[in-house]
Amino acid sequence: MTFHSLKNYEILYSVSKGRHMQTMAIIGAQWGDEGKGKITDYFSKYFDYVVRFQGGNNAGHTIIVGEEKTVLHIIPSGILNPNCHSLIAHGVVFNPEVFKIEVENLKAKNISVTHENLSVSLHCNIITSYHQLLDQIRDSKGSQKIGTTGKGIGPAYEDRSSRRGIKLIDLFDKEILRKKLKRVLAEKEILFKSLYNIDYPSLEEETEKLFSLGQYVFPFAQDTFSIIDKAIQENKKILYEGAQGVLLDIDYGTFPFVTSSNTSAGGVYTGAGLPGKNLEETLGIFKAYTTRVGEGPFPTEMKGAQGEKIQKDGHEFGATTGRTRKVGWLDLPLIKYAIKSSNITAIALTKIDILINQGPLKICTHYEYEGKKIEVAYPGLDLEKVTPHYKDFPELSAVFENEELESKTHNYIKYLEEQAGIPIKMIAYGPRRSELKILQDIV
Ligand code: GDP
Ligand code: IMO
Ligand code: MG
Repeated sequence: MTFHSLKNYEILYSVSKGRHMQTMAIIGAQWGDEGKGKITDYFSKYFDYVVRFQGGNNAGHTIIVGEEKTVLHIIPSGILNPNCHSLIAHGVVFNPEVFKIEVENLKAKNISVTHENLSVSLHCNIITSYHQLLDQIRDSKGSQKIGTTGKGIGPAYEDRSSRRGIKLIDLFDKEILRKKLKRVLAEKEILFKSLYNIDYPSLEEETEKLFSLGQYVFPFAQDTFSIIDKAIQENKKILYEGAQGVLLDIDYGTFPFVTSSNTSAGGVYTGAGLPGKNLEETLGIFKAYTTRVGEGPFPTEMKGAQGEKIQKDGHEFGATTGRTRKVGWLDLPLIKYAIKSSNITAIALTKIDILINQGPLKICTHYEYEGKKIEVAYPGLDLEKVTPHYKDFPELSAVFENEELESKTHNYIKYLEEQAGIPIKMIAYGPRRSELKILQDIV
């Protein structure tokens, strides 16, 4: 237990470009929106590269510096740091239109964005208008509603898996692009016309649009795997920024209410690459309570005034779609499962400030399921059918007292750390970049 060291946190804190730790991943450990953007931005000054390796612009990562708020959907959260090179690696599904808007928005804020500090993999699969239409129409109909972000993520990954996806490199040759789009459209046209009865852009319109966007992206296009390979050989430091959270992972998450990528740490190896190395630290980002946006089971969901107040005080509205995030208690069976399935080695706990003055608190210790006690969730466990059991905690009155964690807050956090079995190395207590305490070396 390391909270006694809080006073000396700056001396203790020793991730720096001079230190030996070379590779770290930031992984959302719940259902997304844990505060990955803020934590990634903070660490970017200690790393040479920040890499997105999965997902797409379904992500919404918020960074607040002073009074200036930036929400990033596709560009890595290292971009605000001028000395850090941001990479969008091949595991990301890439919407060039959103990329262009985001680059221009950053430039309008006088943030340097050039092909020197931002690169996109030539091998990213492209999200076309057809993918977005399909995602939106499917999710608005029928009983299989997942509550997606409507950004075309699922359909784009489908085309990748069926090996008919269009890659960024294809956008640079109009004839190849037209040919590949034609193949993709042939099947989707049947769905648009016969099943859903919706309008869609013609092959020519879509070809022209994507070709023109391709010209915009061209200066940023690189083989990011080779960049990472070279960087590792040169002993550079690489930070991998996850999107979404482990419980939304296509394999480990609450299927079918998940996203379509590997959000867990395994995605680093396939979606970006880490040649010759392993992750030296996998920092799981946990909110001090739980939230979920979209459909799907949520065992510890709080229904009633207390949950509504936490939702309001925590501004729990989606950074991508503006939808309300449901709020619940911390859930140890899911926390332990996320740690195991992503091999999380340390915790960054965010939004502890939101739990101050919210009345007595609870943490779910275990579930009862078909007469059995479940302390750690596992793939396929039917979360609709579990009964959560709780440990009670008194109301928290402050995050800090005399520069130490206030004792009741300390107890809440300490219990979590003991149960998780890995150290809580940092705590975020506000949305701004500076509202962060380091409790233990990140190595
Ligand atoms: P991400 O998707 O994991 O990057 O998280 P989001 O940006 O979607 O949502 C996290 C929200 O919480 C953002 O509005 C952040 O500005 C905010 N935030 C992050 N850490 C803290 C914290 O410690 N306290 C408070 N009050 N807000 C935080
Ligand atoms: P960040 O990176 C929270 C959720 C959607 C839906 C499910 C599938 O900001 O944490 P999709 O559009 O991916 O097919 O939707 O996943 N979802 C997120 N929830 N944060 C996110 O990203 C999310 N990205 C997708 O709400 O339930
Ligand atoms: Mg988010």
